[in-house]
Amino acid sequence: MKDRDLSMASYLEIADDSKGHGLDLFCVPKHYEEDLDSVIIPNGLIKDRTERLARDIVRDMGGHHIVALCVLKGGYKFFADLMDYIKTLNQNIDKSVPLTVDFIRLKSYSNDQSTNCVKVIGGDELSALKGKDIVETGKTMETLLDLLNECQPKMVKVASLLVKRTPRSSGYRPDYIGFEVPDKFLVGYALDYNEYFRDLSHICVLSEQAKEKYKV
Ligand code: IMP
Ligand code: MG
Repeated sequence: MKDRDLSMASYLEIADDSKGHGLDLFCVPKHYEEDLDSVIIPNGLIKDRTERLARDIVRDMGGHHIVALCVLKGGYKFFADLMDYIKTLNQNIDKSVPLTVDFIRLKSYSNDQSTNCVKVIGGDELSALKGKDIVETGKTMETLLDLLNECQPKMVKVASLLVKRTPRSSGYRPDYIGFEVPDKFLVGYALDYNEYFRDLSHICVLSEQAKEKYKV
């Protein structure tokens, strides 16, 4: 087995010129039909990729106890699915890993912009980490990692469903990455725009008109 710290995490790349899929090909709530440009990652593909991340994580943990920390609210769907896949693996392999869960809430975004101020709410026993929605600049995750390291955990690993290709990136890369995505504002599968669109199964590209419509 390769040492994960020496190798970059692999990911499924969604190209910058990817047109995604027409909304009429999938089930999208009626109330959002006018607000989305396309479906960029269908729910089934998210699940298939998450299943593989679960396998990689269990393999790398080598029997260590995992305290899985979910970063709310945007990470809740990814976290729940990832935990389900890890649980299923744990039921069917010899070297299973004990799993406990915790939740933390981070808030830094208003409209589609980072506010430069990351607020942290909740979380009690912090020793390892999983389940983040999206890394854009990496600022949110770096702030959280600084906080976690104060608790001197044995090991901290970060799994993020999405990493955005953007010139604003700090260079931070999670240990496990689902997809690398274009520099567009994405919603659905618990990712929001001012709290809207969490109730959408697929990850979609938000339209420019919708950014105005739901602006606060
Ligand atoms: P960062 O600190 O710039 O890496 O931003 C990460 C956080 O910003 C995520 O946890 C999300 O809450 C939010 N965010 C960044 N890009 C998007 C997006 O495309 N859709 C929804 N939320 C986003
Ligand atoms: Mg948000």
